[in-house]
Amino acid sequence: MTMPRRKRSGSFLNPNLNGGTLLFFKATISILFFLFVLWFTKDKFTTLFSGPTKTHTSSSNVVLSPDPPEKTFYDDPHVSFSIENPITNWDEKRSQWLRLHPSLAAGARDRVLMVTGSQPLPCKNPVGDHLLLRSFKNKVDYCRLQGCDVFYSNVYLHPKMDSYWAKLPSIRSAMMAHPEVEWIWWMDADAVVTDMEFKLPLENYKDHNLIVHGWENMVYDESENKSWTGLNTGSYLVRNCQWSMDLLQEWSKMGPMTSEYEKWGKILMRMFKDKPFPLPDDQSSLIYMLYKERRKWGKKTYLEGGYDLESYWIAVMGRFEEIIFGYNDLEEDVVALRRRHAEKLSKWYGELREPYLRKRGWVPLSKGKRPFVTHFTGCQPCSGNHNPSYKGDTCWKQMEKALNFGDDQVLRKYGFVRNNLSTSSVHEVPFDYPWSDLLRISILK
Ligand SMILES: *[C@@H]1O[C@H](CO)[C@@H](O)[C@H](O)[C@H]1NC(C)=O
Ligand SMILES: *[C@@H]1O[C@H](CO)[C@@H](O)[C@H](O)[C@H]1NC(C)=O
Repeated sequence: MTMPRRKRSGSFLNPNLNGGTLLFFKATISILFFLFVLWFTKDKFTTLFSGPTKTHTSSSNVVLSPDPPEKTFYDDPHVSFSIENPITNWDEKRSQWLRLHPSLAAGARDRVLMVTGSQPLPCKNPVGDHLLLRSFKNKVDYCRLQGCDVFYSNVYLHPKMDSYWAKLPSIRSAMMAHPEVEWIWWMDADAVVTDMEFKLPLENYKDHNLIVHGWENMVYDESENKSWTGLNTGSYLVRNCQWSMDLLQEWSKMGPMTSEYEKWGKILMRMFKDKPFPLPDDQSSLIYMLYKERRKWGKKTYLEGGYDLESYWIAVMGRFEEIIFGYNDLEEDVVALRRRHAEKLSKWYGELREPYLRKRGWVPLSKGKRPFVTHFTGCQPCSGNHNPSYKGDTCWKQMEKALNFGDDQVLRKYGFVRNNLSTSSVHEVPFDYPWSDLLRISILK
């Protein structure tokens, strides 16, 4: 296919040309080639000339300086990224690294890395990969607005730690890859941010290392009917410290990487009568650890129930339209809240809105407030399997709706919103919306 074409172009160039034009052609080609080389190497030239002394500004406005030659844990051949190998003195190792990287140490206490992921293979559910992509976009959007980084893993860092157990090795590796972050925020692929303005209240967690949505009585109370839903591991925060390293180590010992896996399954089934499958899962294993060794793990664990660190999607279903209506109503009242602004200022506008929301009683967990994270528990977007009590395609339809609800909050900064929560058709937001709509309606009347 390519051969005859090349021949044809050759015969076009050669036979009708005299010496002069040929020379002209050669000169032109040489000049073009020289320009091409110049263009191609210009980046290399700039790095050569401005060199490693040039500082770059990352997206989070941290000035990056060179890695100093002093040895850190990265240079220690005995320090492993694998969850199978315990790590010791992590706090010291991390502090030492931070001392050597003062530009990254500044602000480290409030820095969050969101870690999320999905299985390595394509989804069986025809809409699975689409939902995963949108769910990932949702997380990237949130982090761009609120200033976190995101790591997406779609490999099993330990070959036996698959499905929900894959989180643990990912978190462990992320802690080592990011000594500059204080918190790892694990988010399941089926968890969707539905309040892009919500700020994690990290100031509340000074004395805690694990923040997970749960209920004290369900986790710690003696009961013959303990539930495996006493807490939820769909969205949780882990402090980047030795305590968490130890927790991950212990926790993973109940997972598929150990020979005790089936034995643990039996123990958990005995404790949690409502556990729907015989093999251990990360969630019931964590409750087991907290319950059995409260002094060791419970003291530093914060069972968050003050806002929707994750919320059950069934409880949220049907509320989005009403919430949009409420927020629009608020913006009709408050000029400053409906002012158009650069996306970079979103955080500032989010904070501006807070007191007005509180005045209306729209505090976290109330009906008027956007739920922070909506978690599609029991829906498995990728495999397509879902809890049989969820009828037909309710899971995917509702997930799409939650994703659209979150995305509209982002799109608004770009001047558009969806026509409704079930469509991808958008329209431009009129100037001074929603006030302009109110005017239009009153004029029509
Ligand atoms: C535990 O569950 C069993 C069976 O559902 C029930 O009969 C019993 O009353 C429950 N016990 C408690 C303390 O709730
Ligand atoms: C949503 O918007 C689309 C496109 O504008 C429209 O076809 C559809 O009927 C709307 N659905 C509802 C429930 O309003």
